[in-house]
Amino acid sequence: MPTPSPVSVPAFLYGTAWKEDRTQGLAELALRTGFRGIDTANQRRHYFEAAVGHALSAAYRAGVVAREDVFLQTKFTSRDGQDHRLPYDPSADLSTQVAQSMASSLEHLATSYVDSYVLHGPASSRGWTEEDAEVWAAMVRERSAGRARLLGVSNVSLRHLEEMATHHREAPAFVQNRCFARLGWDRDVRAFCAERGSVYQGFSLLTANPDVLGHPLVAHIAARESATPAQVVFRFALAVGMLPLTGTSDPRHMEQDLASGALVMTDDEVAAIESLSG
Ligand SMILES: NC(=O)c1ccc[n+]([C@@H]2O[C@H](COP(=O)([O-])OP(=O)(O)OC[C@H]3O[C@@H](n4cnc5c(N)ncnc54)[C@H](OP(=O)(O)O)[C@@H]3O)[C@@H](O)[C@H]2O)c1
Repeated sequence: MPTPSPVSVPAFLYGTAWKEDRTQGLAELALRTGFRGIDTANQRRHYFEAAVGHALSAAYRAGVVAREDVFLQTKFTSRDGQDHRLPYDPSADLSTQVAQSMASSLEHLATSYVDSYVLHGPASSRGWTEEDAEVWAAMVRERSAGRARLLGVSNVSLRHLEEMATHHREAPAFVQNRCFARLGWDRDVRAFCAERGSVYQGFSLLTANPDVLGHPLVAHIAARESATPAQVVFRFALAVGMLPLTGTSDPRHMEQDLASGALVMTDDEVAAIESLSG
């Protein structure tokens, strides 16, 4: 078997949640605008994964991208996070549910592998459970079978990650969390990720932090750089090593979000934003 090439992770991910019938058009537009990372989930309640697959197929046909140009990430969502539209048999054991959910994702996305497979959320908010360990082991088997290249976890606390580390030698490649400035931008989890070589993916960077968007320091940097406060927040996220997500539906915001990496900010400004409400 040929050795697979290393996974190339883009600087920004386009999130496809909550778009329903607009999912295909917006995901295709995101690819045309230059996004090379797509985040989805096999959770029909919040995502329309099959429509993401249609967007990808349309983009391949139009020559916008090829499969290998796109970092494709989806998730396994447990019963509690789903509505009645389940991608697995709820009476099956968890390992079988993971295998069935993955098979369904690959069909939706018309591919033989995803670049990243993420556990959408642990079973308990209090810590890493036996159920989580069973799901994670099943995800590892999916990776061994070549259906996922990297694995991740989402909606986790430092405690989850510490307990996970006692069960499983290997750290997740990705940790995807809602990122609140008032929690030091998830400082503890980010520090743990940095120690263990996990990439921190931040979502709700704008919606969770309205005070930051309205802060005079952010307004000052935005004015100087002829940019928007939203771009300053994304530039900050990139500067501290996050992989940010945006789910914008606005074509202009898609361009602005991708362009935020070019903004110039001093180390002092990055540090000042990092400590704004932490
Ligand atoms: N793992 C999880 O449990 C989980 C949970 C939530 C989300 N996610 C992922 O993260 C993705 C992003 O979700 P999110 O919570 O960060 O929210 P979002 O869907 O990205 O919404 C961000 C908001 O910011 C606005 N926005 C984006 N770029 C902007 C810009 N340059 N200027 C001004 N406004 C801008 C958007 O408005 P416009 O549309 O008008 O631009 C929108 O109202 C989701 O699609 C999903 O893939 C994962």
